[in-house]
Amino acid sequence: MTSADQPRVLRFPDGFLWGAATSSHQIEGGNVNNDWWAREHAPGTFMTEPSGDACDSYHRYPEDVAIVADLGLGSYRFSLEWSRIEPAPGEFSRAARDHYRRMVDTCLQAGVVPNVSLNHFTLPQWFADRGGWAAADAADRFARFTEFVEPVVARDVPYVCTINEPNITAAFANLGQDTTFGGAGLPAPDPHIADGLARAHHRAVEIVRSWDGPQVGWAVATQAFTPLPGAEEQTARYAGARETRFLQEAADDDWLGIQAYTRTFVGPEGPLSVTEGTETTLTGWEYFPGAVGVGLRTAAERAPGVPLLVTENGIATADDDRRRDYTEGALRAVHAAIADGVDVRGYYHWSLLDNFEWVAGYRPTFGLVAVDRATFARTVKPSARWLGAVARGNALP
Ligand code: NOJ
Repeated sequence: MTSADQPRVLRFPDGFLWGAATSSHQIEGGNVNNDWWAREHAPGTFMTEPSGDACDSYHRYPEDVAIVADLGLGSYRFSLEWSRIEPAPGEFSRAARDHYRRMVDTCLQAGVVPNVSLNHFTLPQWFADRGGWAAADAADRFARFTEFVEPVVARDVPYVCTINEPNITAAFANLGQDTTFGGAGLPAPDPHIADGLARAHHRAVEIVRSWDGPQVGWAVATQAFTPLPGAEEQTARYAGARETRFLQEAADDDWLGIQAYTRTFVGPEGPLSVTEGTETTLTGWEYFPGAVGVGLRTAAERAPGVPLLVTENGIATADDDRRRDYTEGALRAVHAAIADGVDVRGYYHWSLLDNFEWVAGYRPTFGLVAVDRATFARTVKPSARWLGAVARGNALP
């Protein structure tokens, strides 16, 4: 074989961060005091099933962190559950705060870099009752919460994400049975909620920066809106409200998280559902590993100069070989973006565990690790070992 025939090894930049991601409500279990729990138990709910004990990670996080470390994934992205930390307005739980600090310490002891989100979708019920993110005092309330968690994240946590997927959060006002977190089924963000989220984000950024420790940003759902011929203007307008303004909002942040799974075609009449014959995943989204490349390039255009992290990317599938193929395709797209000069600092796979996929319940399995629903036993999938080897080598063979 000549060297030209050798399959090319794709090396990632030195210091590139590799990790896996989760969120509190999707894995902890027993989050009885938040708005999603209430929604799960509302009479006639459109939710598929309640979250219940989830993966019992509130108790089993040491095992989860140990799995991340053993796999060779250097970083763990997780979120704080605000409803546990501030169960009633102005009443803060030091015990809950200590719990999350123990999680950070567990990561550090295992040599795993913590990346902590202050909010990942769920709200304390009292905050939701008072108008949620659209309320006049929402930013003040979030600022107080942020100040309270200083002992958790101000030291030893290099990355803090204020709010996960503000663009999807702002669409929750219009949540319904057909809601999926990607693709044409997603309602438009409510502009008042979007404004409230932006205000809360900027306040939290100021507070986190005053600690002089973590790099702070937020993480936006990118959706690779793709125009059909003639629908370019319509697509730009459509993407503007759903994605563009949230990316632009990060212009002065330390980093910007992009999350990508699939693409959405837009025609003159609006977004299109997946056409027949297209391969889809367990969430009904098009199998499209290139999504992350589109997301990164779009983010680099909208927030020029801001370092990017892929804070989520993955696939809901029962076929673990397909997960591996998808991830390999996605990593090729990340590498190509880097080769073209996009400043990408890391890649987190969604998700570490098979977990509670919101409206869709437990059926869509995104995990690198399976979780037995009766015993909570964790089983590492081959795709996880494969990704761990890529992370260890910092290269795609
Ligand atoms: C977006 C969200 O941040 C996460 O909570 C969700 O499970 C995944 N992407 C997949 O839909």
